Amino acid sequence: MTTKQMYIGGQWVEGKRHYELRSPYSGVSIARIPLADEDDVEAALSSAAQAARTMRGLTSLQRSTILEKVSQLFQERLEDCARILADEAAKPLKAARAEIARTIETYKFAAEEAKRIHGETVPLDAAKSGAGRFGYTKREPLGVIAAITPFNFPFNLTAHKLGPAFAAGNAVVLKPASQTPLSAMMTAKLFEEAGLPAGALNVVTGSGGVIGDLLVKDSRVKMITFTGSAEVGLGIKEKAGLKRVTLELGSNSAVIVDSAEELAPVAARCVEGSFNFAGQVCISVQRVYVQRQLFDEFLRLMKEKAAALVSGDPHSEETDISALIHEREAERIERWVTEAAQAGAEIACGGKREGGFFHPTIIAGGDPKLTVSCSEAFGPIVNVNAYDTWDEAIELVNDSDYGLQAGVYTTSIKKAFDAIERLEVGGVIINDIPSFRVDQMPYGGVKNSGIGKEGIKYSTEEMSEIKFVSFQL
Ligand code: SIN
Repeated sequence: MTTKQMYIGGQWVEGKRHYELRSPYSGVSIARIPLADEDDVEAALSSAAQAARTMRGLTSLQRSTILEKVSQLFQERLEDCARILADEAAKPLKAARAEIARTIETYKFAAEEAKRIHGETVPLDAAKSGAGRFGYTKREPLGVIAAITPFNFPFNLTAHKLGPAFAAGNAVVLKPASQTPLSAMMTAKLFEEAGLPAGALNVVTGSGGVIGDLLVKDSRVKMITFTGSAEVGLGIKEKAGLKRVTLELGSNSAVIVDSAEELAPVAARCVEGSFNFAGQVCISVQRVYVQRQLFDEFLRLMKEKAAALVSGDPHSEETDISALIHEREAERIERWVTEAAQAGAEIACGGKREGGFFHPTIIAGGDPKLTVSCSEAFGPIVNVNAYDTWDEAIELVNDSDYGLQAGVYTTSIKKAFDAIERLEVGGVIINDIPSFRVDQMPYGGVKNSGIGKEGIKYSTEEMSEIKFVSFQL
């Protein structure tokens, strides 16, 4: 078993203590990972603070060229990266390759964005006292950004933080999820190869609580960008003081199936959205509200599609769904499903656990107040319920503490626009599931789903500061 190193100040450095990284699927040991201590975090922060000055001095073209090169290196190493995801996250190869394909695009978008960070002119002479002045804005980097990333898309959600941070000329201290450090180390290796200045990216691995606290409280850190649970996100916000904070948190995303030209592809898409990466996706389809006349047929179609999913080893080419990230998560899902069954919901398929694997589960006719419906599942379960009126469907979707994205299938343009107006979410996806995401679109929720937007253009704005200039001629 190999012992891994952290990446600090452009050097690969040993940790003093380690933890053992195991495959979520087989339990086999993969590597020994450093547990960063206070000295390591201090070294990472001071390297980042120094490198922030270098990054600020790079031209847009230099920043863009580094990001373009990283995108190209991911293309060359696609297969190695996909296998890292299968090892450390039990992500099936099909989904893993799709994530790397997105990562390549995300860095490409960042490379493009680095070249179009503009300001605007401000007509100062619109005010009496502004006559004779010329006003404009320019965007400047923030300095040091702390990025805390999750296990579910360890390459692409990290790209959503590093890409815009470097496009805007910042330096970063990255703390990856403790289950997925290898992807962060690979990312650092590719940035090193691409010629990123030493210290502009620092990767510290280990306990989220310890490292996160040090990063969030340090005055050199100007912004925290976090993807993860609402509970941890709220804790970060409370401690962050005046630092800028972007939080991409959870959801129990819903889709309304009001009408469709054909039901079968819609049911297939809902199954894909519910069980992709075993539902460990913030915009996984967790609630489906189906117009009552369509309900029985729709449920039958969903069950048929779910039954065809292949479960097993993430390294197998055929596998659609594998183990959850930890056995304790499968146990939690089991408790929630048992509670739903005891409350009278129909477990239409699945409902069983085998170690860390939970069978794809469809719950029909459950009360919307069940934990399985109103809390974020982050597991392979979907609730399918019938509704009678359009207003009821909208209310059911909005009856949630979360609001990331919602999907609406309808052949009525009037209903589509009504849903766009009334749904309390960050993104409305008409005629598709809420899990739709491409990496340049704005992405971020309302309510407990977070604050701030990702999507390269939007996060580049969040990661830069507007400076205003008034010029008297
Ligand atoms: C997430 O789980 O927040 C990201 C989903 C995605 O990028 O597709």
